[in-house]
Amino acid sequence: MATQPLVDPELLAAKKSWKEYFAAKLGFRNHWYVACFSREIAEGEVLARKIMGEGILLRRINGKVHAIRDRCIHRGVKLSDKVECHNAETITCWYHGFTFRWEDGLVTAIVGAPESSAVGTKRIKTYPVEEAKGLVFVFVGDADFAAPPLRHECPPSFLDDAVVVEGDCRVVKSNWRLGPEGGIDEIHRYLHREAPLLLNTKSSLPLGHKAVRGQFEMVEDEDGPKGLIDHFKAEKMYFDAQLDEKTVVRGVNFGAEGRRAVYASVWLPACLKVEGFPGPGLTLFEWYVPIDETSHRCFMTIGSACATDEEADLFRQAYKARWKPLAVDGFLQQDIMARESAQGFYGNDRAWLEECLVEDDFMLIEWRKLRARHCHGIQTLDHLL
Ligand code: FES
Ligand SMILES: [Fe+2]
Repeated sequence: MATQPLVDPELLAAKKSWKEYFAAKLGFRNHWYVACFSREIAEGEVLARKIMGEGILLRRINGKVHAIRDRCIHRGVKLSDKVECHNAETITCWYHGFTFRWEDGLVTAIVGAPESSAVGTKRIKTYPVEEAKGLVFVFVGDADFAAPPLRHECPPSFLDDAVVVEGDCRVVKSNWRLGPEGGIDEIHRYLHREAPLLLNTKSSLPLGHKAVRGQFEMVEDEDGPKGLIDHFKAEKMYFDAQLDEKTVVRGVNFGAEGRRAVYASVWLPACLKVEGFPGPGLTLFEWYVPIDETSHRCFMTIGSACATDEEADLFRQAYKARWKPLAVDGFLQQDIMARESAQGFYGNDRAWLEECLVEDDFMLIEWRKLRARHCHGIQTLDHLL
């Protein structure tokens, strides 16, 4: 069955160096994506999620999370429209009673047709699931594509034993690609000039800078995570903006007293890592998971290396009282606002050809090229049939 292409083939032909990225409006297949926080799915509970347009249903059984396609193989209804789990191991479709085993998707019974040959032979799609650091990861891909180890798709240090992770999630009304791009965008510090987090942490933030071209680092080892590191080397920093010879905006500047060093990097499939943010010794890991062409889930997580349980408890308290309001609901919300506003433009495919990037936007292009080079498959409407 032929389907409409997601991106106009003529426009696609105009983009050579990151064509696959341009085409991946719905996301890249064959990757581990964050589906939810572990705390969102208690024993026996069922949770529905959409990733790259695919409906996925999760259930925790004896501590382990299982995932199946949220679409009955019989006549296509969504199992999540009326969840019926009559025992611990299976889910029964509410329409004609096809009953699927969570572990392997096998049809173990059909209430409406108990003697059917589909019993014991047909299966619903299942997805590999891994849980780490309080997040549930689902591998969304092809049956014949072997899932890589999860550590290949988490930024360095995220899985370190001592790292404790706290965080929150928002549904953002923009295409997923605006997530990592907003993070690695070298010249967007201006957006954050009034964030209360800066005063709270005594952090200086220039309004702009002149970047050293080619100061980035690509990490593309076969046996590990792939990403782009911004060493943020600047020839000049600008703390004052002048118009008509008058200072009209001033950046937060604590001079020699202030903190300035944060190191940003982006990692496949789509995760931003910022070391030293939102405070000393902390690291932001922000995961962008496509829901569909016009929305994504943004998991804003902060990691802290804790040597003892007491340290871990203190970090959890600090997350609730300080980092959540100032960083997650404050600073990072500014990025979300920018993404949702830019979606009005980038929602039109032509915008990716007509944007007016400047020399200092080179990180965006490097990220697009890196992402395109490591394409294991592009999600298309055919995958949703
Ligand atoms: S549609 Fe699910 S059993 Fe028929
Ligand atoms: Fe930002």
